[in-house]
Amino acid sequence: MGNLGALLIALFVSAAALLDRCLVDAALSESVYFYWGAQLGRFTGWDACNLVLDKNGGSGIVSRASFLYGSISMRIKLVPGNSAGTVTTFYLSSTGDKHDEIDFEFLGNVTGQPYTIHTNIFTQGVGNREQQFKVWFDPSEDYHNYTIFWNPYAVVWLVDGLPIRVFRNYQDLQINFPDSQAMRAFASLWNADQWATQGGRVKTNWSLAPFVAEFQNFETKACFWNGPNSIYQCASQNPANWWTNPVYFKLSYAKLGQMNWVRENFMIYDYCKDFERFNWQMPKECFLPQY
Ligand SMILES: *[C@@H]1O[C@H](CO)[C@@H](O)[C@H](O)[C@H]1NC(C)=O
Ligand SMILES: *[C@@H]1O[C@H](CO)[C@@H](O)[C@H](O)[C@H]1NC(C)=O
Ligand SMILES: *[C@@H]1O[C@H](CO)[C@@H](O)[C@H](O)[C@H]1NC(C)=O
Repeated sequence: MGNLGALLIALFVSAAALLDRCLVDAALSESVYFYWGAQLGRFTGWDACNLVLDKNGGSGIVSRASFLYGSISMRIKLVPGNSAGTVTTFYLSSTGDKHDEIDFEFLGNVTGQPYTIHTNIFTQGVGNREQQFKVWFDPSEDYHNYTIFWNPYAVVWLVDGLPIRVFRNYQDLQINFPDSQAMRAFASLWNADQWATQGGRVKTNWSLAPFVAEFQNFETKACFWNGPNSIYQCASQNPANWWTNPVYFKLSYAKLGQMNWVRENFMIYDYCKDFERFNWQMPKECFLPQY
């Protein structure tokens, strides 16, 4: 795209931002910056960037804005070929000891073996809620769309629009839910060969470095955090807050069918079934329906 085109779109987007604080579409080069490895990663277009990992370190981006509720998406093309030892992430996180965090992590593998999509959620600083999936496509061959949707009722992880996991709000039963802390969106590429691939048995092969993951189409159809007032404003049910619409109270029948297909065929780990890990003292939400 020419510079003029980009400028016109940028003007249009900032005008839209003024008109509606809740429905702004971001573009990577304007809405994120490199918080790590800026000498390695780079913007490759108005709404595109590469994260890079070599033996000196990885790289990462973070959104300038922070959010409470909405839908936050990124299209990602993962490290191709032998990606063993590498982890690519896309997640939301607040700060501090009692932080909230909603994660997508993509664990690399040797050539020809499948990536693992690793998900987790931290509330008030406590995580330990991992669920993992194999992927029904090669996530390094092309871009795929990863979304974190989150409203006062639930958090939903989606891959190309297919829900793969739901975490419901059971705060009335003393299970913490991310409903009051602003989160920024992050993405990173780092070396985790102590644990990531085949339980840490396969290490990163540095002669293949640099490793590159490609990102584009950062979308934030979300409520922009504007101080503590947002806790109330972003949760209140009104047409501007589209994520509070009762149709998003539960997954539709069609979405539920898609999720069951994913979970029956591709789920490889569920913390709620890992009894030994929790010494049979399972987290409370494991006894409650999530969707
Ligand atoms: C990604 O998926 C989300 C959720 O289905 C959707 O809202 C968004 O528009 C999609 N983005 C792209 C670029 O396709
Ligand atoms: C890598 O491939 C192996 C063998 O197919 C599989 O067991 C494993 O779950 C895959 N993913 C990771 C991250 O090791
Ligand atoms: C690492 O990759 C190089 C280049 O493909 C290859 O020659 C070498 O055997 C690999 N090392 C290991 C330990 O697999």
